[in-house]
Amino acid sequence: MLSGALLTIDGLCVAYDGSCALNGVSLQIHKGELICVVGANGAGKTSLIRSISGIVRSSSGVIKMNGVDITGMPPWEICERGIAQVAEGRQIFGSLSVEENLLLGGTLKRAKAGQSETLDFVYQLFEKLRERRGQLAGTLSGGEQQMLAIGRAIMSKPEVVMFDEPSIGLSPALTDVMFRVVKSLHEQGATVLLVEQNVAKSLALANRGYVLENGSIVLHGSSDELLDNPEIQRAYLGL
Ligand SMILES: Nc1ncnc2c1ncn2[C@@H]1O[C@H](COP(=O)(O)OP(=O)(O)O)[C@@H](O)[C@H]1O
Ligand SMILES: [Mg+2]
Repeated sequence: MLSGALLTIDGLCVAYDGSCALNGVSLQIHKGELICVVGANGAGKTSLIRSISGIVRSSSGVIKMNGVDITGMPPWEICERGIAQVAEGRQIFGSLSVEENLLLGGTLKRAKAGQSETLDFVYQLFEKLRERRGQLAGTLSGGEQQMLAIGRAIMSKPEVVMFDEPSIGLSPALTDVMFRVVKSLHEQGATVLLVEQNVAKSLALANRGYVLENGSIVLHGSSDELLDNPEIQRAYLGL
């Protein structure tokens, strides 16, 4: 389990103005896995994603991608090394068209070759985006904006895609669509780190899960083990 991981996080700490948001988080993701990190609001999920992508600086700990220490590298360099994130709240460029947003995701060196094929792949995944490719992104519905954010991440040809609560703010029906999209991306070979408050739905999808509480991993195991765990059932599944 320990050797040969694609992404390894060891003892990661993040603090904001001296207050600790992540307190020694360790986890590994192997190539082709779909893992989830579940936790309540404020547990530290976004801090975890943002420290992996280099947006937030960690105070200690090591993050390795393909065996290379990427801790403290700038976000663009981390993207070049194959880690893409679909941010919470989507963060698309509302005054640019759908296609312009997608092409921005493909400007990395690693993604330049075959950009039009990747664009075609995104349009196959999301027919809605193809239909609306000339439309201003700010005028898309919430669900379509989330698809655009995912499409933009795919445009960077990532090895690992990190999702920060992709279902947040979506209707139950669109939430199901979103989880199906994550699943189909994984089935097509992507390695996925899914961070979610929706414990039942994300464990149903993932191979393994980690439970984050107040900045610490308190439990981890296969999704089946976690779903069967009485503490998880009581605290997160309302059983
Ligand atoms: N930029 C920030 N400045 C100060 N505190 C922050 C900042 N971002 C997050 N926090 C705090 O860190 C903790 C973890 O937040 P976050 O990582 O956003 O959790 P989650 O995504 O699980 O809701 C919370 O207590 C939150 O208030
Ligand atoms: Mg968050």
